[in-house]
Amino acid sequence: MQGDMPPSGNLNRVLEEARKLVSLPDDERESLKRTLGASISKIRAVVDGMGLDAEVTPVGSAVRDTWLPGNYELDIFVLFPKEAGDKYALGELIKEIAKRTFRNFRQNYAEHPYVIVKYEGFDIDLVPAYKIRKGERVVSSVDRTPFHSSYVLSKLKSPEEVRLLKAFLKSINAYGAEERIGGFSGYLCELLVIFYGSFLDTIINASKWRPPVYIDPEMHLSEEYALSIFQDPLIVIDPVDPRRNVAAALTLTQFNRFRVAARAFLINPNLEFFKRGLKHEKKRTKASVIEKELKRRGSHLIAVELNGLNDLSRELLWSQSKKLAKIFKDELFRYGFQPIWVAGWTDGSSIIVVAGEVPHLKLSSLEKKIGPPVGIKDEEKFLRKYVLGEDTFGGPFIEDDRWYVYSRRGYTEVSMLLSDFLRGNKMPSLLRGRANVRILSEKEIESLSQWALNEIWEELFKEEFFVKYLVKR
Ligand code: UTP
Ligand code: MN
Ligand code: MN
Repeated sequence: MQGDMPPSGNLNRVLEEARKLVSLPDDERESLKRTLGASISKIRAVVDGMGLDAEVTPVGSAVRDTWLPGNYELDIFVLFPKEAGDKYALGELIKEIAKRTFRNFRQNYAEHPYVIVKYEGFDIDLVPAYKIRKGERVVSSVDRTPFHSSYVLSKLKSPEEVRLLKAFLKSINAYGAEERIGGFSGYLCELLVIFYGSFLDTIINASKWRPPVYIDPEMHLSEEYALSIFQDPLIVIDPVDPRRNVAAALTLTQFNRFRVAARAFLINPNLEFFKRGLKHEKKRTKASVIEKELKRRGSHLIAVELNGLNDLSRELLWSQSKKLAKIFKDELFRYGFQPIWVAGWTDGSSIIVVAGEVPHLKLSSLEKKIGPPVGIKDEEKFLRKYVLGEDTFGGPFIEDDRWYVYSRRGYTEVSMLLSDFLRGNKMPSLLRGRANVRILSEKEIESLSQWALNEIWEELFKEEFFVKYLVKR
């Protein structure tokens, strides 16, 4: 699976520098080892003290040497026998273990219950799973994880190649399988490098991908069968479970972003493709700069902040913010406000912000509404509603084969639509009546948190940094 592009001198230089960037400094490796060791023994002691027949085991990038500098996230699994109960019982057990072991923890409502604890500067994902013997059917989705670890450990020759790929994907904002990113998970990166052989071979191959791409490292299935059951742009059959596409969460957008960025990197190799994903500098977008940009565009910003949502988990906050943005966007279109974009984000602990850009804050009272085709049964209903109606400005009239009417628009001001929507029954039930709601005008956006202003800025410019490298220099 060698690529056909010879590595240029420049490419080698960039890769050499990048390897330094993604290697773990000794002190960080030390504290990683120490913290992982200490937390495992603390958890084991608690598990034993509770008289539980459970195994405590580290998984994920920390034990596969695929950990990126500055990550500070550990994954520890507690494996229970099936007799321990259903997954809710496991959720309760893991909460109790977290409470007894660490002082602070936060429950996360994923499809599978788990908790996140903060310990000595690390975030630890503490996940309950069932102890499964090889070949046995998994009960919950995370039961495969210990098998992932042993598969990767036995097949992956150079974990550094995976770290390069992760840094690359982070740089283009395509790393992570969470719903909000829809990108490449750590395990998917590991499998790609195992399959293609190295970081560079992965990039060379990805630059030539055309969907659907089918990868089956252990040749579990036939391509024809796999394409008939998976409809995703990238299909990577899990070596430890043939029923699963490891790339199921990858969106078409992220698939395309990766293949184009891979091509850009091969045209103009540059350290920026790794650096961006590793640096954690804080941006400081000012509200006044956003206001100025909106003037230049002649467009307008609408923003809503919901706060006081402390009882929702991080994952729920993210999915609710996306959901809210989507419904609101549909409402704006419905009433003719033609939004350029609408997006939602959260601080991950108690606040959701939804914002959007619209060409106009106010529209005419008049709108041209489309009616049914001329001569069908529904015609009468439409005509009865609009003929001589109080809110009819003109018509109903015929154009080609349809009825139209000039009638009164449901909302002429976006702020009215927004406030009705936030109080109405289209609001997601999880947020209804639960949050403090603030509708902000352009002048008031400076009271938004810094992270929200940064997100708005990103949305205004839609910058893909690698685009400039697509043009040969
Ligand atoms: P992580 O998301 O923490 O990934 O899941 P990671 O491999 O450790 O990578 P980073 O460095 O934190 O970004 C830990 C392990 O849990 C399994 C995978 O085996 C993964 O390696 N896992 C995680 C799943 O099987 N499914 C998931 O949705 C998430
Ligand atoms: Mn991890
Ligand atoms: Mn994790």
